[in-house]
Amino acid sequence: MARRSDPCPALVLFGSGPPNDREADVSLPRRIVVAISGASGAIYGVRAVETIREDRSVELHLIISAGAKATIEYETDRSVADVAKLADVVHEEKDLAATIASGSFQTHGMLVAPCSIRTLSAIAIALNDNLIVRAADVHLKERRKLVLMVRETPLNATHLRLMHEATLAGAVILPPVPGFYQRPKTLMDLVDHSVGKALDQLGIEHSLFERWSGIRPSSTRAE
Ligand SMILES: Cc1cc2nc3c(=O)[nH]c(=O)nc-3n(C[C@H](O)[C@H](O)[C@H](O)COP(=O)(O)O)c2cc1C
Repeated sequence: MARRSDPCPALVLFGSGPPNDREADVSLPRRIVVAISGASGAIYGVRAVETIREDRSVELHLIISAGAKATIEYETDRSVADVAKLADVVHEEKDLAATIASGSFQTHGMLVAPCSIRTLSAIAIALNDNLIVRAADVHLKERRKLVLMVRETPLNATHLRLMHEATLAGAVILPPVPGFYQRPKTLMDLVDHSVGKALDQLGIEHSLFERWSGIRPSSTRAE
């Protein structure tokens, strides 16, 4: 199912936190690809989509793997349809003829959240057998930003080797490992910290966490 909502209104320079070295192209909307794969932690992908959607100038492309459709329903209180509604374009995982399967379709960057070990493995060896992996490979070959929120624990040597391979190919490995210096109070505070770090990589503005501004005396720290 491919679905388009209103055409993207704003023309955004690559200069607003660009992930690549290209010349700014003022005629392009800022296109972001989000893929949700079937690792635990579907909420990371859902939260990323919800946050990106707050900026209507972003043209949001979404792929949800078959495994992720199950984890979204199982782990969150959102339905797959609710999540899909937030995207400008929803691509089928098997649609290797989709726009984002080609390097000629320009995008600003891609986030896989969460990224399963299966999807990490396929990306690391360029096994372009589905659209998530193909679109990720396109981002790497075109030297665009690719952020992988790899979720598994513990990690064996193969997982670590594949993360190393993906890093050498240009991916940013960003596991959901939250900081605690902001004194999180809820589960969503933890989720938001990790998602915010991923969106920082893509140059997406957000207010998911308060930025570190140095150590303050404990008596003046806001609770
Ligand atoms: C409830 C549930 C939780 C899972 N959690 C993880 C996980 O945290 N990490 C992981 O790599 N795979 C996890 N898996 C296994 C993946 O879903 C499985 O490897 C699947 O083939 C991934 O396919 P995909 O990457 O195409 O979505 C989980 C599966 C289920 C059903």
